[in-house]
Amino acid sequence: MTARLIDGKALSAQLRDGVARRCSALKARGVTPGLAVILVGDDPASQVYVRNKVKACEDAGIRSVLERHDATLTEAALLARVQALNADPAIHGILVQLPLPAQIDSHKVIEAIAPGKDVDGFHVASAGALMVGRPGFRPCTPYGCMKMLESIGMTDLRGKHAVVIGRSNIVGKPMAMLLLAANATVTICHSGTADLGALTRQADIVVAAVGKRKVLTAGMVKPGAVVIDVGMNRDEAGKLCGDVDFDGVREVAGWITPVPGGVGPMTIAMLLVNTVESTERGA
Ligand code: GUN
Repeated sequence: MTARLIDGKALSAQLRDGVARRCSALKARGVTPGLAVILVGDDPASQVYVRNKVKACEDAGIRSVLERHDATLTEAALLARVQALNADPAIHGILVQLPLPAQIDSHKVIEAIAPGKDVDGFHVASAGALMVGRPGFRPCTPYGCMKMLESIGMTDLRGKHAVVIGRSNIVGKPMAMLLLAANATVTICHSGTADLGALTRQADIVVAAVGKRKVLTAGMVKPGAVVIDVGMNRDEAGKLCGDVDFDGVREVAGWITPVPGGVGPMTIAMLLVNTVESTERGA
């Protein structure tokens, strides 16, 4: 069997069209969605992510305000910027790109964002809302993964076993919560889990979010399973690759997401969805 591809690029384009329509409707009422993006320092990967986010906003009709700060910025100065953006009625979403320089406590900064403007979904209030099933912002990457499952008709996951590999606050933990909310049975593992393959071979859905190549290989996958690859790594030739051994796993899985062109574009699309949602809610 060769797995069918879940095309994140095509799906994200559809979602962005929907955002653009909602932005037009808001503008007709005199409201332009505004996203503030804060970048501290010159981490090369962060610069690329931020550039892509700002460009996607422009394309969809969201006004983005990019604030670049020197790597020596103090925590107090950054907190003051967040407070100012919280109070700015033209700003509906605030995103502080991570990682932050060592002198800044990123938890403190994220907790300073008004939960109603937390379009990244990283605030403890957003995490808590997800945990208890209350409305809040869902972190963009796991939210995008759920949209990918929906796109192949997997909406109610009752009776399905999902295995999440990775336990970050940004992906693994919220992913598990969203899968649970969709009625799946969920196992959360990490790269050090004993006999990981014994668990993943039972899974109808595997989400790999470790940040290490070939965490999931063909022998670890049940035939026909859905495999979602959140990884962003480079192979020895410098080519972008995920956490999944794509060439091997695609021969066993039923569905698989490619890297690039899979989860990556979905993350950005969901940021736009959260920002337009925030504007509609009147943040
Ligand atoms: N750094 C890596 N991924 C992300 C993300 O989704 N949001 C923010 N703010 N920082 C990140």
